Amino acid sequence: LQSTFDLDTYMAILAAEVEVALEEFLPAEGKYLGRVGEAMRYSVFPGGKRFRPVLALAACEAVGSARERAVPVGAAFEMIHCFSLIHDDLPCMDNDDERRGRPTNHKVFGEDIALLAGDGLAIWAFDAITRVPDDLSGKVIRQLVQELAHASGHLGMVGGQVIDLAAQHKQATHAEELRVIHECKTGALIRGAVRCGALVGGADEDTLYRLTVYGEKIGLVFQITDDILDAGTDPEPVSFPAVYGMEESKRLAREAVQEALEQIRPLGDKGVALESLAKFLLTRTT
Ligand code: IPE
Ligand code: IPE
Ligand code: MG
Ligand code: MG
Repeated sequence: LQSTFDLDTYMAILAAEVEVALEEFLPAEGKYLGRVGEAMRYSVFPGGKRFRPVLALAACEAVGSARERAVPVGAAFEMIHCFSLIHDDLPCMDNDDERRGRPTNHKVFGEDIALLAGDGLAIWAFDAITRVPDDLSGKVIRQLVQELAHASGHLGMVGGQVIDLAAQHKQATHAEELRVIHECKTGALIRGAVRCGALVGGADEDTLYRLTVYGEKIGLVFQITDDILDAGTDPEPVSFPAVYGMEESKRLAREAVQEALEQIRPLGDKGVALESLAKFLLTRTT
């Protein structure tokens, strides 16, 4: 089955499903909205890989449920992701002029509106995630909201950004700190997207646990690959290639993918998409 599975097509189909929801959820023009709606949309459309939403839908499907049920979850995680990128690019953070091949949000809309567009996306993600199907219990919806908060906030992405900043100022990091940075700043949203997709799909406890470990492993791989792609000839001081060296970084990534695959083995054929998504991280070029 693996040989007939076309990941590019699969990712494009799932991304398109989430696109429709993002289009519907995000503000259009509003009388008093000024440019903030436009600025929110600017950083969401056209998107990047839509990796987190694809994972949420794939996890939902992998536990035997219809993946459309997880579309609001995917949209919510993508909003948080885009918010994190807007703020990450600001002059007070990484001070970047380009993102996804075009000017960063603040270059187009100014720092004030960029800040607010990020805030707007962060907050609206919590509206989006509650738009899951009505037949889900209040308990599951509460879990989804908590998962999103934990993955995004000081225990997740925000926390990771803080440790990352501190390490950047020192111009150095060590293995343990690097792992925590990666687990939080990138890993938490990836893990959370997988978990929330699985929760909407009604995963049993053992499967949810396995998918959580899967999410943690691929979250790590995602950021190792990101560091490798960013490295060129001169790796950033706070990165896997700087701390472990290039070859060892690649080996660690391959090892983590194997560990992720081990977790989803019991899913059998239903795990094919998650398997391909994990392997894709080793060869991705963007
Ligand atoms: C880039 O994330 C920033 C990190 C969190 C490492 P992605 O590589 O998922 O960015 P897009 O959404 O595809 O542009
Ligand atoms: C971005 O991290 C990750 C978040 C915004 C949480 P980086 O600063 O390492 O990634 P790029 O290079 O800007 O995409
Ligand atoms: Mg950064
Ligand atoms: Mg950055």
